[in-house]
Amino acid sequence: MSKFWSPVVHELTPYVPGEQPRERLIKLNTNENPYPPSPGVEKVLNDYPVDHLRLYPDPESLALRQALAREHGVEVGQVFVGNGSDEVLALAFQAFFRQSVPLSMPAITYSFYPVYCRLYDIAYRTLALGDEWQVPLEAFDAHSGGIVFANPNAPTGHGHGRDVIARLLERVTECVVLIDEAYVDFGGESAVPLVEQYPNLLVTGTFSKSRSLAGLRLGYAFGSRELIEGLERVKNSFNSYPIDSLANAVGIAALEDSEHFNACREKVITTRERTRRRLMNLGFEVLPSQTNFILTRHPDHDAAQLFVGLRERGILVRHFNTEALRDFLRISIGTDDEMDSLTEVLETLVG
Ligand SMILES: Cc1ncc(COP(=O)(O)O)c(C=O)c1O
Repeated sequence: MSKFWSPVVHELTPYVPGEQPRERLIKLNTNENPYPPSPGVEKVLNDYPVDHLRLYPDPESLALRQALAREHGVEVGQVFVGNGSDEVLALAFQAFFRQSVPLSMPAITYSFYPVYCRLYDIAYRTLALGDEWQVPLEAFDAHSGGIVFANPNAPTGHGHGRDVIARLLERVTECVVLIDEAYVDFGGESAVPLVEQYPNLLVTGTFSKSRSLAGLRLGYAFGSRELIEGLERVKNSFNSYPIDSLANAVGIAALEDSEHFNACREKVITTRERTRRRLMNLGFEVLPSQTNFILTRHPDHDAAQLFVGLRERGILVRHFNTEALRDFLRISIGTDDEMDSLTEVLETLVG
C-alpha cells in the first residue's frame, strides 16, 4: 500500500501468470507450444535490417492485418492486432463492457477476465458450468452488459461448435459477445466466419499457442468494422504502437507457413490423446480437451500434493487453488518425451 497510488490501485487483485522457472524443468504449466516457430520466423529474425529499428513501426500494422485477413477470410477492416491477446482483451473490456448492466461470464473460465473487471470497475455475473463442464450458452442473459467466454474454454478444454454459437448470437443481439479463441487450433471450431453476419460478435486469437510465439506477444481480434473502430479508439488513446516492427514481420512469416502450423498442432493433438489414455489407465479422470492442455484429477490423490511431487521431480504443471479447481491439475501438452516423463512420475506418485 502506498499513499502515492491512485485509489483504484489499492483495490486491484492482479492476475498471477504461471511461473517462468529459472531452473531447467519440464515446463507444462503455461500452455506454451513445445515445438519451435516456423523456420520462416528464424529467417526473418536472422535477416532483419537492424537499421529499421530507428523508425517507429506502422501504427496500423497494415501488412500483418492483411495477412490475418487473408488467412481467416475476412476484410482487413475487420481485423485488430495487439501486444498479445491479453492486451486485445483488456482493450475490448474497456471499449465494450463498461455498461450500466453487468457483464456475464462462466464461473470457470480464463481468470484474467475478472481482473479486467476490477481494473475498469465493471460489474459482472458468473454462470455455473453444465454437467459436461460446458459453458452454459443458453443461460446467458440477453440483457447483459456483454458476454465473454473462452471457446474452447480454459482450463476445462470443452468447446462449442459454430452452430451452437450462432444460436446464441441469434438470441443475444444488444450487447457484445466476446469469444476468446486462444486454443481453437487444437480441435475447436472457430466462430470467425460468423463475424460478417453478427455485428456484435468479437473473436480474439493469439500467436502464443498454435504458432509457438508466446515470447513475441502478438494477439488479434476479428469483428464488425464498428467493433474494430471501438477497439482502435481505445488503443489510440493508450499506445499508438503496440506491435513493434519485428513482431509485425515475424507474425507475417508465421502465418505464411501453414505446413509447419498444421504439423505442430497435429502432433500436439496426437500427444494429448495419447497422454489422456495413459493417465486414465493410471486411474485419473481426464476431461475431454480441444486444447493444448488437459484438466485432470485422481480420486485418491490430493492435487496439491501431486503438484509438489511433480515439481520435486523436475516437472512443472498448474494447480489453481480455487474451490472449483482445487482437486485438479492442468497439464500443458509437451513433446511425447516430456509426456512420457510426466506419466512415469505420476505412475510412481499414485503407486
Ligand atoms: C483463454 C486465454 N486467453 C488469452 C490468453 C492470453 O494469451 P496471449 O496474451 O499470450 O495472447 C491465454 C493465455 O494463457 C488464455 O489462456
